[in-house]
Amino acid sequence: MAGFLDQIEPLKQSALVDLRAAQDAAGLEQARVSYLGSHGKLTALMKQMGTLSREEKPAAGKAINMAKAELEAVLAERRGEFELKAGLPKEPTDFTLPGRRRALGKLHPLTQVTEDIVRSFRKIGFAVADGPEVEDEYHCFDALNTPADHPARDTQDTFYIASSSQHPEPRSGPSTINSQPSTLLRTHTSSVQIRVMEKQPPPVRIIVPGRVYRRDNADATHNPTFQQVEGLYVDRNVTVGDLKGTVEFVFKELMGPDTRIRFRPHYFSYTEPSFEIDFSSALTRKMGKEWLEIAGCGMVHPQVFENVGYDPELWTGWAFGFGIERVAMIRYGINDIRLFYENDLRFLRQF
Ligand code: DAH
Repeated sequence: MAGFLDQIEPLKQSALVDLRAAQDAAGLEQARVSYLGSHGKLTALMKQMGTLSREEKPAAGKAINMAKAELEAVLAERRGEFELKAGLPKEPTDFTLPGRRRALGKLHPLTQVTEDIVRSFRKIGFAVADGPEVEDEYHCFDALNTPADHPARDTQDTFYIASSSQHPEPRSGPSTINSQPSTLLRTHTSSVQIRVMEKQPPPVRIIVPGRVYRRDNADATHNPTFQQVEGLYVDRNVTVGDLKGTVEFVFKELMGPDTRIRFRPHYFSYTEPSFEIDFSSALTRKMGKEWLEIAGCGMVHPQVFENVGYDPELWTGWAFGFGIERVAMIRYGINDIRLFYENDLRFLRQF
């Protein structure tokens, strides 16, 4: 028995030396096999326990198990060491190398132009207002004094949305089915004029950038969705002169200080008188034209004031609306509106 116990300690010591000396995972495995493997030296010693007497066995078993547990702990520790080492880079790290940079995103050109427009109007006291893209017929047309037989209300131009209480098929004309007003995708941001005036008393000084929808086939100058900016100014004694001055200020900011504007008489149901605005600058001349049409505007129609509960005898105002894509196209010399909506990075990275 004494002989048996005496063998354990030296065997353990020599196993510890081998385990600690291992240079890599393979060396460690070799050391393990030679002591703890099925033909290993410690295993062989354990097998000899069978020759011990009944009284000797417990002490011998305890001693040998403790030795084994100690070796296994060292084994696990050294395995961890080698695993960690395997996970580290082989070559020394050069911390002075430049880092890997993430490509920075940027604002879409239409967002950039919209922000420029908003910035210019903010300088002269306009606040940004917002409204729903899914609109009702009243706010998009009726409240703006647009008669039921106006072509803009036809399904040719407007996306109507079928609701459960309505006939699901496309409508053939402007009349409402079940005499319920229809839901639609707004065809212009003018609807927000109504929503703002319904909610607040005059004076009003707002611009409304936003997305609009029309049933157009996409081509170089049309897209079924595009962006507009609407402006509305209501106060006492507002004149066409205020309108002209404001438009001129903003277009000079957007298109350069040499920009000139002119008004041509036009018709909109929500303004009277109404005008179309042309502008002229180095940019229009670059496109081979002296004057380019850019916006619609006019003095707010008294009926529109009546519709929102403003007294047209007390209040006057003007409104305008224009397309943001058109401004961006002229500014950057872009000849196809569809480019804004294709999300081709080769195009977008240029702005
Ligand atoms: N809503 C018009 C359009 O979509 C633009 C417009 C014209 C807006 C005249 C106005 C306005 O506020 O007074 O073409």
